[in-house]
Amino acid sequence: MEEKLNKIKQEALEIINSSKILDEIEDIRVRILGRKGMLTEILRSLGQLTPELRNTIGKKSNEIKKIIEDALDAKKDELTKSGFSEIASSEWIDVTLNPAVSARERKGGYLHPLSKTQYEIEDILTSMGFQILDGPEAETEYYNFEALNVPKFHPARDMQDTFWTEDGNLLRTHTSAIQIRGMEKMTPPFRIMAPGRVFRYEATDASHEHTFYQVEGMMVGEDISVSHLIYIMEEVLTGIFKKEVKVRLRPGYFPFVEPGFELDFSCLICGGAGCRVCKQSGWIEFLGCGLVHPNTLRAGNIDPDKWSGFAFGMGLNRLIMMQAGINDIRHFMSGDIRFVQQF
Ligand code: FA5
Repeated sequence: MEEKLNKIKQEALEIINSSKILDEIEDIRVRILGRKGMLTEILRSLGQLTPELRNTIGKKSNEIKKIIEDALDAKKDELTKSGFSEIASSEWIDVTLNPAVSARERKGGYLHPLSKTQYEIEDILTSMGFQILDGPEAETEYYNFEALNVPKFHPARDMQDTFWTEDGNLLRTHTSAIQIRGMEKMTPPFRIMAPGRVFRYEATDASHEHTFYQVEGMMVGEDISVSHLIYIMEEVLTGIFKKEVKVRLRPGYFPFVEPGFELDFSCLICGGAGCRVCKQSGWIEFLGCGLVHPNTLRAGNIDPDKWSGFAFGMGLNRLIMMQAGINDIRHFMSGDIRFVQQF
């Protein structure tokens, strides 16, 4: 019996010492010391022994049980510690590493072309003293139409089909709504610009969206004339296209400016000679503009006898389409990452 006990001890210690997995330790404990374990079986058979032998073997069994338990605990402790150090060595990060080096593996995000161009135009205009203003996308009829010299039932309202809200407000159809908000806040002379998202109740096609982006510009001062407008527009276009761009004005009707113009710029593809892009005219239609109508100035609390100004509103989507050769305006809002990645 004693020999059997020594054999169990030797076998148990061998198994415990060779174990390399923490989860195994409990299984080993059950196999040796559990209800049906090797040592437990011996302890159970003690009743069949003589009282003398029972005493000796009982004592010996308890000693061996203690040795095995200690060996199991020691192994468990050892494997727990080495497990932590393994995690520490495989999952460590060096928080002191230069981000420029650690970022090499990562892909960065992309600015949407609309944001990119908007920021470029903001840089150009702010460098000429324009202040950036913001306004609400859900607007009142007053700021979007009435204050801009477009009273109710005026046919000019049909020029911009409108999304109306149930409470009688609307989604702004143009950034010109911010002109009035700006004039209310500013004291002349001033230069303001207002980029933003606008909405029109339109059937979409390759060049029309229901949601698109505009940039509004306005300059108010003494004796502001059409030549100031032309100069600023040439500067903006030269800044965007990084080469000299010529502009021309054609008469255009917008109720909030007088005179009103459509502004074209010289086609950059053919240099003005005529091509498919400019429909052989040598010019690209770009934006609406004009000298601010006296009624509009009055609505902004500005005296038209003392001050004059110009305003313009350009569509960003079509500008980028021209710049990058995009053939369908609907790509901008498609949410397709491959479109954005090209810029
Ligand atoms: C206006 O929105 C005027 N507020 C511009 C203005 C401002 C005139 C200040 C005078 C003074 P218009 O409706 O033409 O004008 O729009 C201006 C630009 O927005 C267009 O040249 C075009 O580039 C863009 N645009 C208009 N409708 C759409 C559309 N459905 N989809 C995409 N772009 C559009």
